[in-house]
Amino acid sequence: MKFKTILGTFALGAMLATPVIADEDPAIEARQGQFKLFSHNFAVVGGMAQGRMEYDAEMAQTAADNLYHLTRVDQGRLWPEGTDTESVEGTRALPSIWEDLDDFVAKFVALQEAAENLQAVAGEGLDEMRAGVGQVGQTCQACHEANRAESS
Ligand code: HEC
Repeated sequence: MKFKTILGTFALGAMLATPVIADEDPAIEARQGQFKLFSHNFAVVGGMAQGRMEYDAEMAQTAADNLYHLTRVDQGRLWPEGTDTESVEGTRALPSIWEDLDDFVAKFVALQEAAENLQAVAGEGLDEMRAGVGQVGQTCQACHEANRAESS
């Protein structure tokens, strides 16, 4: 009887200690993982463009190829309604995304096009690559300014 009471108390304590997150959706972590992979590859060409890394045609091409393919991943299941900063914790996705989905999609398509252009020039030399990197960087930034909160 006493043992049971302790267990009961423990279970209640554990419940109280768990942060309450409404409607936690695995899509949030999945899309954040996607963006981490964008960054991990963009850092290579971005680093070379800014002179923080020596230009290496093969490395640049591999990173650009990855970015091209990563931006082709279907986004259909990554942005369920109700996974914005107003509705859940643990995301920086602003409600503006769902308020104007067409604009969000257009900004994603702009990234896809920029990634395609970068892929075509990344292995052709530092100057050629640099222009492509700039274009991709602008598409990342444009969407973040409109749709990503500073912090979650
Ligand atoms: C069409 C819009 C859009 C584009 C284009 C875009 N992002 Fe994002 N990004 C977002 C949103 C929205 C979030 C917040 C996601 C969340 O927290 O649920 C985000 C989050 C991130 C994060 C944080 C991930 C984490 O760990 O939580 C990184 C890093 C990032 N983006 C990098 C990039 C890079 C690099 C590019 C360009 C190659 C890019 N993004 C292009 C909308 C975009």
